[in-house]
Amino acid sequence: MKPEVIVALDFNEEETALNTVKLLLTQTKYFKVGLELFSVSCLEVVRKIRDLGGKVFLDLKYFDIPNTVCSAVREAIKSGAFMVNVHALGGRELLLRTSETVKETAYALGMEKPIVVAVTLLTSMDGSDLSILGIKESAESFVLKLSELAKNCGLDGVVCSAREVRKIKENFGKDFITVVPGIRPSWSQKNDQKRTATPEFAKESGADYLVIGRPITRSEKPLEVLSKIKKSLLT
Ligand code: C5P
Repeated sequence: MKPEVIVALDFNEEETALNTVKLLLTQTKYFKVGLELFSVSCLEVVRKIRDLGGKVFLDLKYFDIPNTVCSAVREAIKSGAFMVNVHALGGRELLLRTSETVKETAYALGMEKPIVVAVTLLTSMDGSDLSILGIKESAESFVLKLSELAKNCGLDGVVCSAREVRKIKENFGKDFITVVPGIRPSWSQKNDQKRTATPEFAKESGADYLVIGRPITRSEKPLEVLSKIKKSLLT
Protein backbone atom coordinates (compact mmCIF):
# COMPACT_ATOMS: atom_id res chain seq x y z
CA MET A 1 0.00 0.00 0.00
CA LYS A 2 1.32 3.44 -0.81
CA PRO A 3 1.68 5.90 2.05
CA GLU A 4 -0.28 9.15 2.06
CA VAL A 5 1.70 12.40 2.01
CA ILE A 6 0.72 14.95 4.68
CA VAL A 7 2.05 18.42 3.86
CA ALA A 8 3.19 20.31 6.99
CA LEU A 9 1.74 23.83 6.81
CA ASP A 10 4.42 25.47 8.95
CA PHE A 11 3.58 29.10 8.17
CA ASN A 12 2.96 32.20 10.28
CA GLU A 13 0.22 33.53 8.01
CA GLU A 14 -3.14 31.85 7.53
CA GLU A 15 -3.45 33.18 3.99
CA THR A 16 -0.18 31.54 2.90
CA ALA A 17 -1.30 28.26 4.47
CA LEU A 18 -4.69 28.30 2.75
CA ASN A 19 -3.15 29.25 -0.61
CA THR A 20 -0.78 26.30 -0.22
CA VAL A 21 -3.72 23.99 0.41
CA LYS A 22 -5.50 25.29 -2.72
CA LEU A 23 -2.33 24.82 -4.77
CA LEU A 24 -1.58 21.28 -3.58
CA LEU A 25 -5.07 19.77 -3.30
CA THR A 26 -4.83 18.07 -6.67
CA GLN A 27 -1.90 16.01 -5.35
CA THR A 28 -2.89 15.36 -1.72
CA LYS A 29 -5.83 16.05 0.54
CA TYR A 30 -3.76 15.64 3.72
CA PHE A 31 -2.34 18.66 5.56
CA LYS A 32 -0.78 19.23 8.96
CA VAL A 33 -1.48 22.14 11.28
CA GLY A 34 1.27 22.41 13.86
CA LEU A 35 2.27 24.76 16.65
CA GLU A 36 3.24 27.70 14.42
CA LEU A 37 0.06 27.95 12.36
CA PHE A 38 -2.11 27.07 15.37
CA SER A 39 -0.49 29.95 17.29
CA VAL A 40 -1.61 32.28 14.52
CA SER A 41 -5.05 30.95 13.65
CA CYS A 42 -6.19 28.57 16.43
CA LEU A 43 -8.67 25.88 15.43
CA GLU A 44 -10.41 28.10 12.89
CA VAL A 45 -7.76 27.24 10.30
CA VAL A 46 -8.59 23.53 10.63
CA ARG A 47 -12.21 24.28 9.71
CA LYS A 48 -11.11 26.44 6.77
CA ILE A 49 -8.85 23.71 5.39
CA ARG A 50 -11.70 21.20 5.73
CA ASP A 51 -14.03 23.59 3.89
CA LEU A 52 -11.52 23.58 1.02
CA GLY A 53 -11.70 19.78 0.93
CA GLY A 54 -8.59 18.97 2.98
CA LYS A 55 -8.12 16.52 5.86
CA VAL A 56 -6.17 17.83 8.81
CA PHE A 57 -3.64 16.22 11.12
CA LEU A 58 -3.64 18.52 14.17
CA ASP A 59 -0.06 18.17 15.43
CA LEU A 60 -0.06 19.92 18.82
CA LYS A 61 1.93 17.19 20.61
CA TYR A 62 0.03 17.60 23.85
CA PHE A 63 2.29 17.06 26.87
CA ASP A 64 0.82 17.99 30.27
CA ILE A 65 -1.02 16.34 33.16
CA PRO A 66 -3.80 13.97 32.01
CA ASN A 67 -6.66 16.24 33.05
CA THR A 68 -5.31 19.24 31.10
CA VAL A 69 -4.50 17.19 28.01
CA CYS A 70 -7.91 15.48 27.97
CA SER A 71 -9.74 18.81 28.29
CA ALA A 72 -7.66 20.24 25.42
CA VAL A 73 -8.12 17.17 23.22
CA ARG A 74 -11.87 17.26 23.81
CA GLU A 75 -11.98 20.81 22.39
CA ALA A 76 -9.47 20.12 19.61
CA ILE A 77 -11.36 17.24 18.03
CA LYS A 78 -14.47 19.39 17.65
CA SER A 79 -12.54 21.04 14.78
CA GLY A 80 -12.99 17.86 12.73
CA ALA A 81 -9.27 17.02 12.50
CA PHE A 82 -8.89 13.43 11.25
CA MET A 83 -5.80 12.83 13.40
CA VAL A 84 -4.44 14.29 16.66
CA ASN A 85 -1.43 13.49 18.82
CA VAL A 86 -0.04 13.50 22.36
CA HIS A 87 3.44 12.82 23.73
CA ALA A 88 4.07 9.22 24.75
CA LEU A 89 6.42 10.58 27.43
CA GLY A 90 3.31 11.97 29.15
CA GLY A 91 2.95 8.44 30.52
CA ARG A 92 0.49 5.61 30.86
CA GLU A 93 -2.38 7.45 32.51
CA LEU A 94 -2.22 10.30 30.02
CA LEU A 95 -2.34 7.87 27.09
CA LEU A 96 -5.14 5.73 28.54
CA ARG A 97 -7.30 8.74 29.38
CA THR A 98 -6.66 10.45 26.04
CA SER A 99 -7.70 7.35 24.16
CA GLU A 100 -10.93 7.12 26.21
CA THR A 101 -11.66 10.85 25.92
CA VAL A 102 -11.37 10.80 22.15
CA LYS A 103 -13.71 7.79 21.88
CA GLU A 104 -16.30 9.30 24.22
CA THR A 105 -16.20 12.78 22.65
CA ALA A 106 -16.46 11.49 19.10
CA TYR A 107 -19.38 9.26 20.09
CA ALA A 108 -21.16 12.13 21.88
CA LEU A 109 -20.70 14.39 18.85
CA GLY A 110 -21.78 11.68 16.40
CA MET A 111 -18.54 11.99 14.45
CA GLU A 112 -16.03 9.45 13.20
CA LYS A 113 -13.38 8.85 15.84
CA PRO A 114 -10.18 10.70 14.92
CA ILE A 115 -6.96 8.71 14.77
CA VAL A 116 -4.89 9.25 17.93
CA VAL A 117 -1.13 8.78 17.72
CA ALA A 118 1.66 9.24 20.26
CA VAL A 119 4.87 11.12 19.52
CA THR A 120 7.78 8.86 20.48
CA LEU A 121 11.16 10.53 19.89
CA LEU A 122 11.25 13.69 17.77
CA THR A 123 12.94 13.10 14.42
CA SER A 124 15.19 16.07 15.21
CA MET A 125 16.77 13.94 17.97
CA ASP A 126 19.00 10.88 17.86
CA GLY A 127 20.90 8.63 20.28
CA SER A 128 23.38 11.37 21.20
CA ASP A 129 20.51 13.66 22.28
CA LEU A 130 19.14 10.82 24.43
CA SER A 131 22.52 10.34 26.03
CA ILE A 132 22.68 14.06 26.96
CA LEU A 133 19.34 13.51 28.72
CA GLY A 134 20.86 10.61 30.67
CA ILE A 135 18.99 7.97 28.64
CA LYS A 136 21.40 5.16 27.76
CA GLU A 137 19.19 3.40 25.20
CA SER A 138 19.46 3.61 21.43
CA ALA A 139 16.86 5.74 19.63
CA GLU A 140 15.35 2.55 18.20
CA SER A 141 14.82 0.74 21.48
CA PHE A 142 13.49 3.93 23.11
CA VAL A 143 10.98 4.37 20.29
CA LEU A 144 9.94 0.71 20.49
CA LYS A 145 9.37 0.96 24.23
CA LEU A 146 7.16 4.06 23.85
CA SER A 147 5.32 2.41 20.94
CA GLU A 148 4.52 -0.60 23.13
CA LEU A 149 3.16 1.73 25.81
CA ALA A 150 1.02 3.57 23.25
CA LYS A 151 -0.32 0.30 21.84
CA ASN A 152 -1.15 -1.07 25.31
CA CYS A 153 -2.99 2.15 26.17
CA GLY A 154 -5.28 1.85 23.14
CA LEU A 155 -3.74 4.45 20.82
CA ASP A 156 -4.02 3.91 17.08
CA GLY A 157 -0.34 4.39 16.34
CA VAL A 158 2.78 6.48 16.77
CA VAL A 159 4.85 9.25 15.23
CA CYS A 160 8.35 7.87 14.64
CA SER A 161 11.16 7.99 12.09
CA ALA A 162 11.19 5.77 9.02
CA ARG A 163 14.10 3.90 10.54
CA GLU A 164 11.86 2.36 13.21
CA VAL A 165 8.76 1.59 11.13
CA ARG A 166 9.66 -1.97 10.15
CA LYS A 167 10.31 -3.08 13.74
CA ILE A 168 7.15 -1.31 15.00
CA LYS A 169 5.03 -3.13 12.42
CA GLU A 170 6.71 -6.46 13.23
CA ASN A 171 6.11 -6.03 16.96
CA PHE A 172 2.73 -4.30 17.11
CA GLY A 173 0.99 -5.34 13.90
CA LYS A 174 0.56 -3.83 10.47
CA ASP A 175 -2.61 -2.00 11.54
CA PHE A 176 -0.71 -0.01 14.17
CA ILE A 177 -0.36 3.29 12.31
CA THR A 178 3.04 4.89 11.73
CA VAL A 179 3.24 8.61 10.96
CA VAL A 180 6.70 9.55 9.74
CA PRO A 181 8.27 13.03 9.65
CA GLY A 182 11.94 13.69 8.87
CA ILE A 183 11.35 12.74 5.25
CA ARG A 184 14.01 14.07 2.92
CA PRO A 185 14.20 13.25 -0.80
CA SER A 186 17.83 12.53 -1.77
CA TRP A 187 18.06 15.93 -3.48
CA SER A 188 16.90 18.01 -0.49
CA GLN A 189 18.48 19.51 2.66
CA LYS A 190 18.18 17.93 6.12
CA ASN A 191 17.56 21.24 7.96
CA ASP A 192 17.24 20.51 11.72
CA GLN A 193 16.11 16.90 11.21
CA LYS A 194 18.47 14.07 12.26
CA ARG A 195 16.69 10.68 11.90
CA THR A 196 15.86 11.29 8.25
CA ALA A 197 14.94 8.94 5.40
CA THR A 198 13.90 9.21 1.77
CA PRO A 199 10.23 8.83 0.80
CA GLU A 200 11.09 5.58 -0.99
CA PHE A 201 12.74 4.09 2.12
CA ALA A 202 9.78 5.11 4.30
CA LYS A 203 7.40 3.47 1.85
CA GLU A 204 9.42 0.23 1.69
CA SER A 205 9.46 0.12 5.49
CA GLY A 206 5.65 0.18 5.54
CA ALA A 207 4.95 3.74 6.77
CA ASP A 208 1.29 4.82 6.58
CA TYR A 209 1.66 8.62 6.48
CA LEU A 210 4.72 10.69 5.46
CA VAL A 211 4.81 14.19 6.95
CA ILE A 212 6.77 16.50 4.67
CA GLY A 213 7.22 20.24 5.16
CA ARG A 214 10.14 22.32 3.99
CA PRO A 215 11.25 20.22 1.00
CA ILE A 216 7.82 21.07 -0.47
CA THR A 217 6.68 24.31 1.15
CA ARG A 218 10.00 26.14 0.93
CA SER A 219 10.72 25.12 -2.65
CA GLU A 220 10.11 27.48 -5.55
CA LYS A 221 7.67 25.01 -7.11
CA PRO A 222 5.76 23.22 -4.31
CA LEU A 223 3.27 21.50 -6.64
CA GLU A 224 6.00 20.09 -8.88
CA VAL A 225 8.01 18.87 -5.88
CA LEU A 226 4.98 17.19 -4.30
CA SER A 227 4.06 15.58 -7.59
CA LYS A 228 7.66 14.30 -8.00
CA ILE A 229 7.54 12.80 -4.48
CA LYS A 230 4.16 11.18 -5.17
CA LYS A 231 5.51 9.65 -8.39
CA SER A 232 8.50 8.23 -6.52
CA LEU A 233 6.03 6.43 -4.22
CA LEU A 234 4.24 4.71 -7.08
CA THR A 235 7.10 2.43 -8.08
O1 C5P B 1 9.92 20.74 7.31
P1 C5P B 1 9.92 19.32 7.79
O2 C5P B 1 9.69 18.32 6.68
O3 C5P B 1 11.14 19.00 8.64
O4 C5P B 1 8.63 19.24 8.72
C1 C5P B 1 8.36 18.14 9.54
C2 C5P B 1 7.13 18.44 10.33
O5 C5P B 1 6.84 17.32 11.15
C3 C5P B 1 7.24 19.65 11.25
O6 C5P B 1 6.01 20.34 11.17
C4 C5P B 1 7.45 19.08 12.63
O7 C5P B 1 6.81 19.84 13.63
C5 C5P B 1 6.76 17.72 12.51
N1 C5P B 1 7.26 16.66 13.38
C6 C5P B 1 8.57 16.24 13.39
N2 C5P B 1 8.98 15.23 14.23
C7 C5P B 1 8.08 14.65 15.04
C8 C5P B 1 6.75 15.05 15.02
C9 C5P B 1 6.35 16.07 14.16
O8 C5P B 1 9.38 16.76 12.61
N3 C5P B 1 8.45 13.64 15.78
